[in-house]
Amino acid sequence: MTLSESGAAPAGEVVLEAVGLTKHFPVRGRLRDLFSRTPAVVHAVDDVSFALRRGRVTALVGESGSGKSTVARLLAQLHPRTAGDIRLHGTSTRVRGGRRFRSYVRRVQLILQDPFASLNPVHTVRYHLTRPLRIHGTAGRGAEELERALADLLTRVSLTPPERYLDAFPHELSGGQRQRVAIARALGADPEVLLADEPVSMLDVSIRLGVLNLLQDLKDRLDLAILYITHDIASARYFADETIVMYAGRMVEGGDSETVTQNPAHPYTRLLTDSAPDPERITGALSGADAARADRGGGEPPSLISPPAGCRFHPRCPHAMRRCVADAPPRLTVGDRPGHWTACWLYDPATVAADPPGSAAPDADPTVPPPPAFAGRADTGPREEAR
Ligand SMILES: Nc1ncnc2c1ncn2[C@@H]1O[C@H](COP(=O)(O)OP(=O)(O)OP(=O)(O)O)[C@@H](O)[C@H]1O
Ligand code: SF4
Ligand SMILES: [Mg+2]
Repeated sequence: MTLSESGAAPAGEVVLEAVGLTKHFPVRGRLRDLFSRTPAVVHAVDDVSFALRRGRVTALVGESGSGKSTVARLLAQLHPRTAGDIRLHGTSTRVRGGRRFRSYVRRVQLILQDPFASLNPVHTVRYHLTRPLRIHGTAGRGAEELERALADLLTRVSLTPPERYLDAFPHELSGGQRQRVAIARALGADPEVLLADEPVSMLDVSIRLGVLNLLQDLKDRLDLAILYITHDIASARYFADETIVMYAGRMVEGGDSETVTQNPAHPYTRLLTDSAPDPERITGALSGADAARADRGGGEPPSLISPPAGCRFHPRCPHAMRRCVADAPPRLTVGDRPGHWTACWLYDPATVAADPPGSAAPDADPTVPPPPAFAGRADTGPREEAR
């Protein structure tokens, strides 16, 4: 019996937490860095805090390079972190290989974007699924129990009848079937958390919804906590309970998915939602270069080697005030929706009263929509907001 099926922990309980998570990658190969006391770094992720809960999907949305995969790899303990903490059931964890790493990976599994690359072409489905069952001690005793465990895994991801798939090689499967095998392999460890890094973005439009529905079904049946990483804010509304928006390595907005996608507060989230008409994007009618252009909206993201001071969105924001250029905004509560917050000075009445929106935006991008009526207050504990 799995931990989730045993009902040992209550639904909604926090399983995995990022607390002030920060990752700076050294920039290699720059001659001047050899002589510098402070070598350049890529500020890939800065001060990211959120919690993943049992039986809930949390979407992490943002344009390319905003730091989404780095967050997933940090949570999977594949990168050492620069600062911050990762807590599993409230306990700080830092594992680097060995038994402790295997025990962590059993509970926190990463699913990658590319099912073609994540399966070894010379091995069958049976091999790919037997390995995690053996490594994580869930293969049972004897050949019969192993066969039953393999059949159970394939049935869970709707690859039935299992015997049709067990001895197939990856090239004999469709992209969707391969991604289902990758999900079954992750389930073989009997995890509590799935970190799904753009799990459908490389699949044909026609099968994306099926794989998302499968993940949702697994979430419900196994009470999994799922991190769903995507460029596509429309799919976050459909699939996730909570949505967090990242821009240039920082979290800029969070709350329940319906609120964040239907009443976005941060100018960057508004830009994303205004360029993402729901029905077309969820079915993928807008794809490739068009989707990328829509994701970018007006302007380009900043360099992460020397990111803008203050609010990192200020060079693109038509509402920028003097304070935005100097001070990074804290998380501020938006309106009266519980849990809805944004990191934007527009939601601090004192800042707006002192300095009208747009006063520090001489080259404002006219495509960025106007701010909503703001009704915020400074939040007392930014990190408490996400839990
Ligand atoms: N191993 C690495 N070494 C140096 N820089 C890195 C490394 N991995 C990521 N980066 C940089 O960190 C930033 C964030 O990258 P990341 O892959 O996390 O973004 P992303 O939001 O997942 O983008 P995409 O949507 O394109 O997958 C980028 O500027 C990227 O170039
Ligand atoms: S108003 Fe200021 S804080 Fe808000 S997004 Fe624009 S630049 Fe950032
Ligand atoms: Mg990525």
